[in-house]
Amino acid sequence: MRVTSYMHHFLLKHCDENAIICDLTLGNGNDALFCLQHFKHVYAFDIQPIAIVRSKLKCEKYSNKDFYCLDHAQLDTVLKTQVDVVLMNNGYLPNSETNIMTELDSSIKALDKSISILKKDGYLCVTLYRKHDGGIEEYEGIKNFLNQNKKLRNIQSFTYENDDLAPVLTIFQKINEGS
Ligand SMILES: C[S@@+](CC[C@H](N)C(=O)[O-])C[C@H]1O[C@@H](n2cnc3c(N)ncnc32)[C@H](O)[C@@H]1O
Repeated sequence: MRVTSYMHHFLLKHCDENAIICDLTLGNGNDALFCLQHFKHVYAFDIQPIAIVRSKLKCEKYSNKDFYCLDHAQLDTVLKTQVDVVLMNNGYLPNSETNIMTELDSSIKALDKSISILKKDGYLCVTLYRKHDGGIEEYEGIKNFLNQNKKLRNIQSFTYENDDLAPVLTIFQKINEGS
């Protein structure tokens, strides 16, 4: 099973149709489309206009969405609501420029802000890739940041066997509101 399919199965099992989703990396809109089909509303961010154009086209049947062409580190400038799920699927946009990709500093800012708007008991699903330049550093930095965060508990991880650089999906649950 692919990491994305594993994550989608997890969401179907643990969330109901009223769930509000924040997708920090919209990309080609595959995760957003899945969430629009099953959940109440999707807020999503991408820094690349092409990602917004492709995803709006892919998701045109659905109106329960707000897609922002904005650095996810600035999500708090537009997103004022609490959410049930935060998704982050890092790296570069498939079938596009591979030199535009997520970076550790803005990823951590975005995660920190999104954890603040995540409801208690809500889920944070982070998928990280390690084969591109800088991928391992980003993976290590985000892993350390999240594992030390006292608002979260790590509930599941999924990767492929026999590949030390395979993508890793880690799912956290928010356990408390304090700092
Ligand atoms: C691997 S793709 C996401 C795939 C997507 N979840 C899907 O279902 O198709 C990663 C995306 O993150 C975007 N990205 C990179 N840095 C970003 C940032 N600072 N803020 C928001 N999006 C960013 C890239 O433009 C790229 O489209």
